[in-house]
Amino acid sequence: MPIILSVNGQKHSIDNAAADVPLLWVLRDMVGMTGTKFGCGVGLCGACGVLIGGQRFFSCQTPLRAVIGRDVTTIEGLGDDPHGAALQQAWEEVDVVQCGYCQPGQLIAACALLKANPRPDDAAIDEGMSGNLCRCGTYPRIRKAVKLAAGGGR
Ligand code: FES
Ligand code: FES
Repeated sequence: MPIILSVNGQKHSIDNAAADVPLLWVLRDMVGMTGTKFGCGVGLCGACGVLIGGQRFFSCQTPLRAVIGRDVTTIEGLGDDPHGAALQQAWEEVDVVQCGYCQPGQLIAACALLKANPRPDDAAIDEGMSGNLCRCGTYPRIRKAVKLAAGGGR
């Protein structure tokens, strides 16, 4: 029986997928949303982050069965969220991105952070973004962009 998955406000019928397959592979291979990246595969890098009900989860560690009936937001849908749109604009203004690979996960984490704390100080930003690694070292620009977006997303 197909599993109905809600991604970025759209329903997708997922056929022939085991209920315990990681959401990451469903998103990338079955839904065609390749913005969500595979990094470590073990919950350590944050590249695979998505929002589920407004909270950040690592999709490499989230089985398909856990998101049945819940709304999943990927980087492709982030601009429809007020905080997400403000963050995307700030990311451009600050010119955060280097190679870009980690950035979808960084933006998802930043969006979850602003939803929980719309005016984070440096410590709160560091704490909120601590699950995301960037091999290019864009951390100072990420912090600057999160600050810029804070207040613009309300
Ligand atoms: S790929 Fe999921 S946390 Fe690294
Ligand atoms: S921008 Fe290259 S890994 Fe973060």
